[in-house]
Amino acid sequence: MSEPRRIYAREEIDERVREVGREITADGIGAPLVAVCVIKGAVVFFADLVRSINGADVRFAFVAAKSYKADGNRMTSAGEVKLEYVSFSPEEIKGADVLLVEDIVDTGRTIAVLKAYCESLGAERVRIAALLDKPDCRVADVAPDYAAFTIKGDPYIVGYGLDNMQKYRNLDGIFVI
Ligand code: IMP
Repeated sequence: MSEPRRIYAREEIDERVREVGREITADGIGAPLVAVCVIKGAVVFFADLVRSINGADVRFAFVAAKSYKADGNRMTSAGEVKLEYVSFSPEEIKGADVLLVEDIVDTGRTIAVLKAYCESLGAERVRIAALLDKPDCRVADVAPDYAAFTIKGDPYIVGYGLDNMQKYRNLDGIFVI
């Protein structure tokens, strides 16, 4: 496999993430705002984004969902989404302003399931913030409310939290392989 090719440098990412944080703040911050990090891929984005949101009562929550299975040296959609880990109790979500923080909205299946789950727990509002939006790959009827970058077509992205077979998450930028 060829070396990852950088498409966004750290400085551009920092600037866009700060802008997204300002947009989220401008659209209103509930009390509390529960920022839900979809692990593992969104961890780096989440850490930067929450510090760009200006709110007095911003809480952290974590979920893990599995929708992809290994297929050769790339990951392909298994078409099924399972919640594997949920850090919060239903009471923490009931009546809360929820911000789902995802690394990439690809088919949209994962984020659609997470949104429906938070709504079923009685969230007052559920917004989606994605580092990357790949609208050409969409299967589920869902779109991020905020996206730092939109990617055309279906290149495979790594870095800044995103992996390929658990590699490349620590790359300091966004890359295509
Ligand atoms: P979905 O297809 O929108 O459900 O995406 C599910 C998950 O697949 C995302 O949260 C990512 O973790 C992973 N994924 C989708 N596209 C890529 C990619 O280009 N690079 C790395 N991970 C990806």
